[in-house]
Amino acid sequence: MHEHDVIVVGAGGAGLRAAIAANEEGADVAIVTKLHPVRSHTGAAEGGINAALQEGDSWEKHAYDTMKGSDYLGDAPAVETLAQDSPEETIQLEHWGMPFSREEDGRVSQRPFGGLSFPRTTYAGAETGHHLLHTMYEQLVKRGIQVYDEWYVSRLAVTDEDDPEERDCHGVVAYDIKSGNVEGFAARDGVILATGGLGQVYDHTTNAVANTGDGAAMAYRAGVPLEDMEFIQFHPTSLPSTGVLISEGVRGEGGILYNSEGERFMFEHGYANNEGELASRDVVARAELTEVNEGRGVEDEYVHLDMRHLGEERIVDRLENIIHLAEDFEGVNPLEEPMPVKPGQHYAMGGIETDENGETCIGGLYAAGECACVSVHGSNRLGGNALPELIVFGARAGRHAAGGDVGEAEITTGKTEDIEPGEVETPVAPGAVETDEDAIADGSGATLADPDETVQRAVEAERTRVEHLLEKDEGVQQAEIREKLQKTMTENVNVFRNEEGLKQALEDIREVREEYQDVYVNDPSRTFNTDLIHTIEMQNLIDLGEAITLGALAREEFRGAHWRQEHQERKDDEWLKHTLLSWNEGSPELWYKPVILEGEEKEYEPKVRSY
Ligand code: FUM
Repeated sequence: MHEHDVIVVGAGGAGLRAAIAANEEGADVAIVTKLHPVRSHTGAAEGGINAALQEGDSWEKHAYDTMKGSDYLGDAPAVETLAQDSPEETIQLEHWGMPFSREEDGRVSQRPFGGLSFPRTTYAGAETGHHLLHTMYEQLVKRGIQVYDEWYVSRLAVTDEDDPEERDCHGVVAYDIKSGNVEGFAARDGVILATGGLGQVYDHTTNAVANTGDGAAMAYRAGVPLEDMEFIQFHPTSLPSTGVLISEGVRGEGGILYNSEGERFMFEHGYANNEGELASRDVVARAELTEVNEGRGVEDEYVHLDMRHLGEERIVDRLENIIHLAEDFEGVNPLEEPMPVKPGQHYAMGGIETDENGETCIGGLYAAGECACVSVHGSNRLGGNALPELIVFGARAGRHAAGGDVGEAEITTGKTEDIEPGEVETPVAPGAVETDEDAIADGSGATLADPDETVQRAVEAERTRVEHLLEKDEGVQQAEIREKLQKTMTENVNVFRNEEGLKQALEDIREVREEYQDVYVNDPSRTFNTDLIHTIEMQNLIDLGEAITLGALAREEFRGAHWRQEHQERKDDEWLKHTLLSWNEGSPELWYKPVILEGEEKEYEPKVRSY
């Protein structure tokens, strides 16, 4: 068994930042990751990092924009922490050598982004995430932090007390993709989940194939609530044929959206009379699809994004990557013609419920980055707020797990006094097909006093699962059911939602879940068996697809990215609250907790949100 003080699962921005912070506190920290760090999906982040760095800007303005963008579902302590810590974290990156784009006088450049009242998005061309990963990876190497790459963490080693809040996480189990071995990793002080997004739940996504929500699903099955899962962000400018992202930076630099009639519809059709293309993402995505649905789309599918008027020199200077992406993935030269774009799944606002220090309600288990919900984005994330979230909350989780002092958290986790039970009428029963499927805490045994034994039992349970999958030689293959899941999520749990579609999705997910009982792996080999990895991931996609849909069906209002045909208004009296879903012995339990609008010095009063 491997043993370290702190185990970080995942090596994107949040994982790397957490590992560096834990190392700085003196911990023996290791990263266990299914991808090599510089191949993590953070590398695909294009736009930038919001940080109040300039005169005229302030953390207060950043916090206000974020609360408004969240449609008042962000928790003020988390939002303010993000806005306050982001400048220091961004400057830290600069000191580590991050090659930010600069002005003539040498200052780091910042550009406008959607929903911001000040141009505060700091960037490195249109490949900010790529440089961020490389900059932090250098720091990892410099510090000699151990990385187990191409090790797929597929189970948490958590004790099995009935009450999840009494459980402890003592480590993880990982499958070595290179050898096929299943091994345990004991964590003396803490496990930090930083596994990123879940975009593979959908079939049109800007996310990588690796984004299968592993951390969120494992934490859910171990007893940690998932928060606000219904809020999925659809980025307005993804390429139609592949889902590849065309950065909001294009619109930040002045790019314009047109419909098939050549109208600048954001203004001409009154979707956002002040901010136009730079309205918040939920607003722009709905506007594009409305244009298409009303017959003004191009090829009945997309709209055009034009940046030719910016001129080649400026485009090459600030957005060069976009030229290559449009040419390579859509066969379009954006210096000569507009780019076809449409909304694509981009980001999960919800995730593993944590406080500002990354702690979950299970002892020793932390989460940070996209897999977590702290909650900083509420019902809609602003562009440029994901990267600061990674570094701010990654650093805090790393420090806290290693015993450093990051102060008391204000946000509470788990079932506190002010929660209320929820109810949702579903056409089929959600949750596990068999009650002993996915034993609650995945430790597969009684409450254990000995941490190593907890890890060892989890290793045995995982070895059994892998052997079972490899021994079976008939049944259904994961690719077939993955396609079914992605199709129903894209058809029914997309930008526009209604009760009938959401119920249809739950029925389809149930079918997929039942078929998964019969899944088998076609490739019997032990090395680089991607069929096996995808089959294990599939379980996670099912659990998360269902959680998204349940939350969406239950929330009978229109808030941020969650639009409901039957409920066309934000209902603050009833719905100013976070959705929580717990995996209660295989059956999802729905409950709610209040949003915290009380900031350090002010209360963020919900207002009509217009751009
Ligand atoms: O459009 C973009 O460059 C994406 C940025 C983000 O999601 O924050």
